[in-house]
Amino acid sequence: MEKHFKRTTVTSALPYANGPVHIGHLAGVYVPADIYVRYLRLKKEDVLFIGGSDEHGVPITIRARKEGITPQDVVDRYHNLIKKSFEEFGISFDIYSRTSSEIHRQTASDFFRKLYEKGEFIEKTSEQYYDEEAKQFLADRYITGECPHCHNERAYGDQCEACGTSLSPTDLINPKSAISGSKPVMKETKHWYLPLDKHEAWLREWILENHKEWRPNVYGQCKSWLDMGLQPRAVSRDLDWGIPVPVEGAEGKVLYVWFDAPIGYISNTKELLPDSWEKWWKDPETRLVHFIGKDNIVFHCIVFPAMLKAEGSYILPDNVPSNEFLNLEGDKISTSRNWAVWLHEYLADFPGKQDVLRYVLTANAPETKDNDFTWKDFQARNNNELVAVFGNFVNRAMVLTNKYFDGKVPAVGELTDYDKEILKEFSDVKQDVEKLLDVFKFRDAQKEAMNLARIGNKYLADTEPWKLAKTDMTRVATILNISMQLVANLAIAFEPFLPFSAKKLREMLNLQECDWSRLGSTDLLEEGHVLNKPELLFEKIEDSVIEAQVQKLLDTKKANEEANYKANPIRENIEFDDFLKLDIRVGTILECQKVPKADKLLQFKIDDGLETRTIVSGIAKHYSPEELVGKQVCFIANLPPRKLKGIESQGMILSAENFDGGLSVITPMREAKPGSEVK
Ligand code: MF3
Ligand code: ZN
Repeated sequence: MEKHFKRTTVTSALPYANGPVHIGHLAGVYVPADIYVRYLRLKKEDVLFIGGSDEHGVPITIRARKEGITPQDVVDRYHNLIKKSFEEFGISFDIYSRTSSEIHRQTASDFFRKLYEKGEFIEKTSEQYYDEEAKQFLADRYITGECPHCHNERAYGDQCEACGTSLSPTDLINPKSAISGSKPVMKETKHWYLPLDKHEAWLREWILENHKEWRPNVYGQCKSWLDMGLQPRAVSRDLDWGIPVPVEGAEGKVLYVWFDAPIGYISNTKELLPDSWEKWWKDPETRLVHFIGKDNIVFHCIVFPAMLKAEGSYILPDNVPSNEFLNLEGDKISTSRNWAVWLHEYLADFPGKQDVLRYVLTANAPETKDNDFTWKDFQARNNNELVAVFGNFVNRAMVLTNKYFDGKVPAVGELTDYDKEILKEFSDVKQDVEKLLDVFKFRDAQKEAMNLARIGNKYLADTEPWKLAKTDMTRVATILNISMQLVANLAIAFEPFLPFSAKKLREMLNLQECDWSRLGSTDLLEEGHVLNKPELLFEKIEDSVIEAQVQKLLDTKKANEEANYKANPIRENIEFDDFLKLDIRVGTILECQKVPKADKLLQFKIDDGLETRTIVSGIAKHYSPEELVGKQVCFIANLPPRKLKGIESQGMILSAENFDGGLSVITPMREAKPGSEVK
C-alpha cells in the first residue's frame, strides 16, 4: 500500500570542500535533486532541501599541507566557491551550510555520545603505522611506497594509482611517511567501531524486502554488500582535523568523516529551523530522500541508516536515488588531473546559459549507466533541441500573435478534429511528467515536457496560419490561441527543469504565477490577454565556441603529460659499459596464458633463438593471451630468474608505460630473428 506522507526532507550529498564543483556533481546529484524539490514545491507539498559542504577528511589536510595553509583556509575558500556556483545554477537549497560549523560539532558530538552511552559501539585496539618524527599516526593516504603488484614506487597506502589496485598500508614495499619521509613504525591505537554485523538482519529485511522499488543500481549494490556480510566499521580516526571524539581517553582522535558528514544534514536542518527541525527528521510521516552519487551508496543505504537506527529516535530514508558517473569526453572526471568542466568556469565562458547546461545534463543524465559529456553533444542539444524546437516554437507563436492580433491572445473559434487531437495530446502532459518525476526518472520527464514544443512546431507546420491570414482570420485566431496555450503550458512544464527560462517565458507571457495544478489546461491564457514583447529564449552556439572548449581540454591533456614527464625526468647519465651489461633480445611468443589466482600476470613461452624460456609478466590487464601469441617482443635476457606465484620467470618483457598507467608492449618494427640483440 502507498504510504501517506505529510512532508519530504530532501538531502543532496555534501560535496568535499577541497576543490570546486564540476558538471559531474551537477548531473549526478544537484540538478536531479533540484528538479525534484521544485516539482514538490510546485505541487504545494511541504518540502525542505538541505545542502552543505563536507569539510573534514584526510584529502583536505593533504591539500592544506601542500599549499602551506591551514585546513580551515582550504575549506573556507572552496565552501564559498561551491556555494556561489550552486546559487548561480539555481540549485534552490533551503540552506547550504557546512560541517565546520559550531552547531554541527555539537550535533555530531551529541550523536556520538548518545550511541556511546547506549553501548552501540565496540572498542578495538589495532596496530597502525605511526610517524615517530612527526609524532602522529598516518592516514592511509599519508603512506607511500612501492606497489606490490606493478612496482610503481609512488603508490599510496589505500591505492596504487598506476595499476588501480586497492591496497592497505601494510601491502606497500618500503613504506614511507608522506609527512616526514621517515620509515613509519607499527603502533597500537584504539578506535570505536559501529558493529554493522549486528544490524545486518534488519537492514536485509528493510532494503531487500521492503524497498524493492529503489533503483536497480542502488538495490543491487546494497544486495551485494549484504550478501558479502557486514563487518564492524571504525567511526574514529587518528587525525588532527575533524570533530574530536567526545569521550575520555580519545585525545588526538576525531570522528571519521563519514560518521560526521551525514549528520551534517541534521545539523543544517537545525541551523535553519532551530525550533521545528525535529519533525523533519523524527516524524514517521516525514519522507526522507537522499540524492547521491554511486560512490556514496553504501554510506547512505547501510552505514547512516544503521547510525540512525542505533540512535533510536530518527526516521530512515524512504528512497536514495543515486546516479552513475558522468565522464567527460570519454575519460573519467578527475579533480587532481583537472579533467572536468568546472561550474565557475562554465559560468564565465557561458554567462546566462545555466539552463543550457541543466538541460543537457538532464537529457544525458547517468541514471542507469555511466554517460559521457561531450562538447559536441552539448552544442547539438542546444542548437537542435533548445533553439530549433523549444525556442523556435515559442518565438513563432508569439511573433505571429503579435503580427496578426497585436500581441493579444485571440479567441478560439470552431475546433477541427485535428485541433481536438492536439488539445488532447497536450492535456496528458501533467500526468505523464508527474508519473516520471515521482519515480525519479528525470530524463524521461524532461523529454515529455519537450514533447509539448515538438507538438507545437508540428501543429504550426501542418496548419500554416501565415498562409490562412489572407482568407480566414477566424481560423488563424483558433490556431494561434491553441499555440499560445501550448506556449503557456511549456512555461509551467519547464519550471522544475529550466527555472531561468521558464521565468523569462512567463514574463514574456505576462503571467504572474506558475500554477502547476493547471498544467495541461487548454485555457491558461484568456482571450484578450495581453502578451509582452517576445525575446529569444535560447541562442545558437557556434562551432568556434565549442572548438575553444575542446581546445581547453586538449591543453589540459598536454599539461598533464608534461607534468608527468617532469615527475619522471630523464635519469642521470650512466657509463657506456653499464649499458653494455644489459642483454636485450628479440623473442617470439610461442604460448601465453593467464596465471591462475593472479589477475595481473601472464605466463609466456618465448623462443629466444636457442631454446624456449618462461617469462611471467604483469600485463594481463592490458593484453589478452590471444592477441600476443605469434608476436615478437623485446626482453631483458640476463636478469637473475625470479619466482612469481611459484613460477620461475627468466627475464622481463619490455613495454612503454603511458602516464595514465596504460601499457604498450615493445615489438621490433620489422620481423627479426629470435635471439637478435637489441642495441
Ligand atoms: N563528501 C562526500 C563525497 O563527496 C559526500 C558526503 S555525503 C554525506 O563523496 F552524507 F556524508 F554528507
Ligand atoms: Zn600498482
